[in-house]
Amino acid sequence: MADAGEKRIMILGTGGISHRHAEHFTSIPGCRIVAACDVNADRSRTFADMHAIPRSFDNLGKALEWGEFDAVVNSTPDGVHKATTLDILAAGKAVFCEKPLAVNADDAFDMVEAVEKAGVINMVNLTYRNAHAIQMARRLIDAGEIGAVRHVEASYLQSWLTGRHWGDWRVDERWLWRLSSAHGSMGVLGDIGIHIVDFVTYGTGLDIAALQARLKTFDKAEGGAIGGYTLDANDSCAMTVEFTNGALGVIHMSRFATGKANDLDLTIHGELGALKIWSNTTESSLQVCLGADIETQTWRPYDCPPTPRNADRFVIALLSGTNGEPDFRRAAEVQKILDLCFVSDAERRMLPVELPPAD
Ligand SMILES: NC(=O)c1ccc[n+]([C@@H]2O[C@H](COP(=O)([O-])OP(=O)(O)OC[C@H]3O[C@@H](n4cnc5c(N)ncnc54)[C@H](O)[C@@H]3O)[C@@H](O)[C@H]2O)c1
Repeated sequence: MADAGEKRIMILGTGGISHRHAEHFTSIPGCRIVAACDVNADRSRTFADMHAIPRSFDNLGKALEWGEFDAVVNSTPDGVHKATTLDILAAGKAVFCEKPLAVNADDAFDMVEAVEKAGVINMVNLTYRNAHAIQMARRLIDAGEIGAVRHVEASYLQSWLTGRHWGDWRVDERWLWRLSSAHGSMGVLGDIGIHIVDFVTYGTGLDIAALQARLKTFDKAEGGAIGGYTLDANDSCAMTVEFTNGALGVIHMSRFATGKANDLDLTIHGELGALKIWSNTTESSLQVCLGADIETQTWRPYDCPPTPRNADRFVIALLSGTNGEPDFRRAAEVQKILDLCFVSDAERRMLPVELPPAD
């Protein structure tokens, strides 16, 4: 039984990432997971049993009809986020949506409009905001420690297409859908591009004013398909960007980065100093080159005390009634950058970034 005032959460989509959500939300005071829901009834029931969740549904409509929850963690596949989230918002529930918010910026901004009209708490799980090092880096930048940013290097590199350390993508549907645009995948851009673009722009505190991108889809199977999956989604992306303050940057990402498991690297060079941030799913670190050290290019480790995770901030938002970051609008703005990468690649040119104004 939930305590009065405790926020009741349902987890929608009980696949791979949902187990992490179950662990996080179970550990946060002020909330309780009251239901699980997945179109695969067995998976939903097994998940509910595993995490001691009292109710299990095989259909979102039935769960909404029951309705005894305040918020939904939407961890369905990318292509399912929009339709399910709009139904959840119509029922007046708050949403913590997995990234990417949708499969394109138009859909993402439709979701922004719906959520802002509904006036409910909304956040998107741009996971690497959880990295203590990126939070500390942003504080140092806001405090003027490295002066004006002039140059940025960033990458997000994985290698699940060249190894079997996360399972065999050739036979596992959990990986195959990520390789097929017909299954709602935006390729490496949707998978991890959204994280690194958020990491760079949040970390530097700068928006991207213009970009150029090259995308690559490598041959991976005979005839370019496995079963019903056409392997047409991009695997690697290299971008050059100009920030609103005139700084230049390079951002690249790949699933073919043999030797890298899941690494985000970001170096921010300012006029007075530089910051080097590294993160994976569970750990992060910060090195700094500041003050007199810029003359000798000496880098020193910098202590980063723990900061709240997205899930913590979502519960704080539910309890306080004040929305948390990153919200739907922020995720839609990042999504716009990803959409422009497709256009830039097709047209082989630099494009300006123009975002719809917030009302
Ligand atoms: N933030 C991160 O770092 C991170 C990491 C991994 C995955 N993700 C995101 O999380 C989402 C899920 O990824 P995953 O790897 O867990 O996928 P998955 O395929 O393992 O799980 C998705 C689950 O959703 C269920 N589902 C599909 N349609 C549904 C519907 N209409 N209603 C209810 N359930 C439905 C499927 O049956 C499946 O069990 C994706 O959007 C992915 O991009 C985010």
